[in-house]
Formats: sequence, structure tokens, C-alpha cells
Amino acid sequence: MAGAQTGLKPNDVCIEVKDVHKRYGKLDVLTGVNLSLRRGQVTVVCGRSGSGKSTLLRCINGLESFHQGQILVDAVSVSDPRTDLSALRAKLGMVFQHFYLYPHMNVLANITLAPRIVGHEKRAQADERARALLERVGLPTKAASYPGELSGGEQQRVAIARAMAMEPAAILFDEPTSALDPQMTKDVLDVIAALAKSGMTMVIVTHEMGFARKVADEIVFMEHGKVLNHTKTEDFFENAAHPSIKLFLRDV
Ligand SMILES: Nc1ncnc2c1ncn2[C@@H]1O[C@H](COP(=O)(O)OP(=O)(O)OP(=O)(O)O)[C@@H](O)[C@H]1O
Ligand SMILES: [Mg+2]
Repeated sequence: MAGAQTGLKPNDVCIEVKDVHKRYGKLDVLTGVNLSLRRGQVTVVCGRSGSGKSTLLRCINGLESFHQGQILVDAVSVSDPRTDLSALRAKLGMVFQHFYLYPHMNVLANITLAPRIVGHEKRAQADERARALLERVGLPTKAASYPGELSGGEQQRVAIARAMAMEPAAILFDEPTSALDPQMTKDVLDVIAALAKSGMTMVIVTHEMGFARKVADEIVFMEHGKVLNHTKTEDFFENAAHPSIKLFLRDV
């Protein structure tokens, strides 16, 4: 599936994390993270609560600074003061547990805001692309609805369409379904799985290990602010030898 419809070389690196350290006060949260993620690849990041998964995602898209190391997105250093952070964030879609849609804007306006303001796209064209994206996430009739009129699962699918509207190099998901009930979770995971098939580069923090097994190319397991294990999905589930991983798989 890698790079299937993107026309990009499947093996080039999209996100590179090199020896990243971060602390909050005296608390070491990232303690030397190394990670290399290829274009077109779907990576699930898992691990216990507090292992640093969300912090890592926030460092990758420049929402958080870090104390040591380097993160490159499309070979551009996130922490270089010369890097244009808004341009960087436009390249990385972000989907959070709580959707963060703008409540006073309808669905179409939520999706087209960044393309129009950041991407300087004409309204008619942005609207047309937004409608196509709504079709893709299974919400073709909701363009004029307001977030408050949608279910949690529908709001999350709008958030995914909004992330895709910037045609990002990658989309980072932080527990996109953990605030949703099982039916809504399924609807959202189906949309993410379809995106994965289309060759989108994705990093997904999730506890949905059944989904991870089906959709991920590779699994990253974090412990105490480090990558304890980074392996092909099949290996992770079938050959995990580390006691922490065995215990984690048993518990989830
Ligand atoms: N803004 C902050 N200020 C201080 N400490 C923080 C802050 N954000 C996170 N932490 C701490 O950093 C550690 C890692 O947090 P992080 O949110 O990255 O973990 P996580 O792996 O995403 O956990 P979860 O599975 O619960 O979402 C935790 O101990 C957390 O309490
Ligand atoms: Mg988290």
C-alpha cells in the first residue's frame, strides 16, 4: 500500500526523530526518542498512559518545544528558528481525541478555513474540495450543519476531512476514538482505514489494538519516554518477547 496513490517514492523518510529529550520541570517525559517514518506508511504508536505518546506527537508538529535532539519533517527541522511553524503545521494534519471544531462555523466553513486563509485558495474551489472530502468521510449531507448538531463520531470525521483539506504530507492522530462509543468508533476507524489504503502517511496513537493489527504497517511501543520497540505489525503481535509488551497486550 505504501505510496499507492501519492506518486511518491515509498521508501523516502517523511518524519525523522533523532535522540529527542523533553522534560516538564523535573519530569523527564521524552528520554531519547529515535524514530524514522517512511512516506505512505501507517504507524501505530502505543504504550502505557504517561509513556510520552501525546508529547511526541506535539513535538513533531511543533506544538511543544524539546530540550535536545532533532525532528525533521520532509527534511525540515522543526526546532530550527528559521522554520516557518505555520507552514510546517500546514504540512501535518492533526486529529485529536476532542475534535476542536469551531463551534460557530458550519462544517463546510470548518473544513475550508485553513485552505482559504493559509492556502489562499478561492472559495468556490475550497468548497468543492471540502464537499468531495465530506463524501469521502461519509458525511455528504452535513456541509451546512454546525458541530453541535453532529454526533461525536460525525464531528471526528469532519475533523479528519479538515486535516485532509490541507493535503498534508502526513496526518497525526492522538487517540481519535477514545471519546467515542463503539458504533461511532467503528465509523471513524473505517474512515481512517480507507485513508490508510489510499497511501496517506499516518501516525496514530491508539489503544484499539484490533484496528492497529488490521491497518498499521508498523507498530511503535513506547515506555518511559523512549521507543522500546519498533517493528512490523505482524512481528509485534506474534513475536513480542519483551515482558512490558506482553503485559500491555494482555491488558488491552
Ligand atoms: N503540559 C504538561 N505539564 C507537565 N507535565 C506534563 C504535561 N503534559 C504531559 N505531562 C506529563 O508527561 C508525561 C507524558 O505525558 P503524555 O501525555 O505524553 O503521555 P501519553 O503517553 O500520551 O499518555 P496517555 O495514554 O494517558 O494519553 C506524563 O507523566 C504527563 O503527566
Ligand atoms: Mg496521550
